[in-house]
Amino acid sequence: MTQAAQEITAAVRQRYGNIAEQVVAGNTSTCCGGDVSLSGNTISTNLYQGDELDGLPLKATLASLGCGNPTALAALHPGEVVLDLGSGGGIDVLLSARRVGPTGLAYGLDMTDAMLELAHQNAAEAGVENVRWLKGDIANIPLPDNSVDVIISNGVINLAADKQPVFNEAWRVLKPGGRFAVADVVIHGGLPAAFPDTNAFRRDLSAWAGCIAGALTDAEYRTGLAQAGFTEIELEVTRRYSREEVGDMLPQVFNHFDAELVDDTISRFASTFVRAIKPLG
Ligand SMILES: C[S@@+](CC[C@H](N)C(=O)[O-])C[C@H]1O[C@@H](n2cnc3c(N)ncnc32)[C@H](O)[C@@H]1O
Repeated sequence: MTQAAQEITAAVRQRYGNIAEQVVAGNTSTCCGGDVSLSGNTISTNLYQGDELDGLPLKATLASLGCGNPTALAALHPGEVVLDLGSGGGIDVLLSARRVGPTGLAYGLDMTDAMLELAHQNAAEAGVENVRWLKGDIANIPLPDNSVDVIISNGVINLAADKQPVFNEAWRVLKPGGRFAVADVVIHGGLPAAFPDTNAFRRDLSAWAGCIAGALTDAEYRTGLAQAGFTEIELEVTRRYSREEVGDMLPQVFNHFDAELVDDTISRFASTFVRAIKPLG
């Protein structure tokens, strides 16, 4: 890993470790580091239907830090094996475990110890047994080839320092015919042509760990997945954001932009459901 990649990974681990510790301590939290209540209007709010969360521990819902609802969109079936990349407090793993039932299994993979500890607590409190928690990097998945039916992920791939190994690993562990069904922040159409310093933006570690600076464009997502071997790649926008919603997650470099450029840039960021298939043959 390059030094830049190590710095990104350390910044991401620190941010999400801090959030997990706050949730364990009884503070509320939402995506990408903002300390707001669950009723606040931010990227991670209102992702789940009320009854979907019935029976889940409060701390699992408080630690919901994603940008979509992959388990609802992935059409999971009883008996399937699901892997959640960057499982955090475990909300999507617990929901997947319900959907695949006792004959199925849901794995949660995360690199942050405090998140894994929170996930263990949440699964024990929910009394869910068909889950397994794995510590590791989504760019180096600790599972054998062809062992998973469905890969889900929620607001995580944009955080990876290097995305291609993540796509390659997802392809490796999926069974032939397996589905990639991921919610992520994507920059549709790329950054505006008038964007003055793309490199400064990409180097902003706080904005990277906040799900903004590391986001891929839609074209980069398609190319990366295709390069790994995926087919039937589809991107569907599930939510766009206003300036107020993005709030203080805006990187400092934006302070130097005029209002029109800020609005144009924000309008290109969207929570997106990304689907793809590992072909059968
Ligand atoms: C934005 S939170 C999303 C958590 C969860 N998916 C959810 O919807 O609540 C990002 C999570 O991904 C984990 N993460 C980020 N980069 C990772 C990596 N390269 N490998 C493993 N886990 C990672 C973080 O530790 C954190 O728990």
